[in-house]
Amino acid sequence: MLTDIFGSDVSLETPAALESWNKMQLGFLSHAAVTPTHLADVLKREPNFALGHAAKGLFYLMLGRRELVQTAIDAEKAARIALDNVAANPRECGYVEALSLWLAGQQVAARNRIEDILKDYPQDSLAMKVSHAISFILGDSAHMRSSIEAVLPAYEEHHVGRGYLLGCHSFSLEETGDYSLAEIAGREGMLQAPDDAWGLHAIAHVYDMTGNAKAGLEWLEGREHAWAHCNNFRYHVWWHKALMYLDQGQIDKVLWLYDTEVRKDQTDDYRDISNGTSMLSRLELEGVDVGNRWEELADFSENRTEDGCLIFADLHYMLALVGDNRNEAIKTLMARMHKDAQRNKTDVEKAMADPGLAAAVGLEAFGEADYTTAFINLANARGKIQTAGGSHAQRDVFERLTIDAGIRAGFLNEAEAILNERKAKRRGAEDRYASVRFEMISSGRGGNIPFMQQPAE
Ligand SMILES: [Fe+2]
Repeated sequence: MLTDIFGSDVSLETPAALESWNKMQLGFLSHAAVTPTHLADVLKREPNFALGHAAKGLFYLMLGRRELVQTAIDAEKAARIALDNVAANPRECGYVEALSLWLAGQQVAARNRIEDILKDYPQDSLAMKVSHAISFILGDSAHMRSSIEAVLPAYEEHHVGRGYLLGCHSFSLEETGDYSLAEIAGREGMLQAPDDAWGLHAIAHVYDMTGNAKAGLEWLEGREHAWAHCNNFRYHVWWHKALMYLDQGQIDKVLWLYDTEVRKDQTDDYRDISNGTSMLSRLELEGVDVGNRWEELADFSENRTEDGCLIFADLHYMLALVGDNRNEAIKTLMARMHKDAQRNKTDVEKAMADPGLAAAVGLEAFGEADYTTAFINLANARGKIQTAGGSHAQRDVFERLTIDAGIRAGFLNEAEAILNERKAKRRGAEDRYASVRFEMISSGRGGNIPFMQQPAE
């Protein structure tokens, strides 16, 4: 029996396959673009490696694309055949079971199955990161944190995955509001794993949440090597940098980064589209003319209306369609979301019913300048919007649209209350967005908001 870099037994037979498997695992931990190449090499060398097929299936499901679900189904079949051919250990079998659960629409149970693996094999960094990734998709930040903290004691100083573990710990601390601890963990993690773009970006999140764009820019500046090797995650790190420029009011730099990095390659991965749509939405809320930048995002989003893999993705497709006034596609997307919500069986369909539908109706109404309907629905979705997945920084676009809809519709007290909650989540930090809105509310009370509508009777 061979042993991998984290000390886990693996049912591989050749050192060459093990070497590729180790590279694949490190690649997955650092969001490296080369990860699928290493995984393909493992499976080419040893097609009866069930864990490899299971990892492939899980990775494809993480991409959140309906047309790739078949690849995950094929991977599960290959894993089951492999299990018939070669005896696998309980840890490896657990990954296959997790894949089956996710394919059955049970994302939470799939994540929990990976957690079961961690109880027996806490040093398994692949399981740690897979659990972290699924919890992120589920918007379950409390679980992200408890998962990491449960395995932390098993990581000795020289565990190869320790830096990446600290990066995940940093992110989970940030998402649960412990900003100082998050920064300490993130910086320590980067010393051990300088290519951990996730840990690096966790610190960017800290500066975003604490309204310190200047420190955020200083942190990212000169550290481009930490995310240059990444898959599309690199666009997201650039997006964070653009957010910091936005907070500083440097709109030219935001647009420049948007064009040269964030949407440079105009890809249609849902995470890339969410970077683009949420940035354009934020810019428009600040009164910036974004030109024809909605168009390519709306073109891609029009092709995704029947997807339904993730509510987070659907809501960002909706932003693009609203941004470019694609009324037919908006109707198609809404109809499909209604159908999913009515089925209400899988974890995603349940989230589609609540908060997905209310959020989508709110976004559509915002695009129609019906700010009363927008505010009522977005405020209604707000309590559970975390279950749409993603981070606080990503979901803040929905928070901003809710607050702005409230101000425009004249719900000044309600908008102010949400602004105060937003500020409390940031431990009292007030970013540019909040300062401007507090001022708008104050002016509105003096009857001085030019675009303010009266609330409907
Ligand atoms: Fe992020």
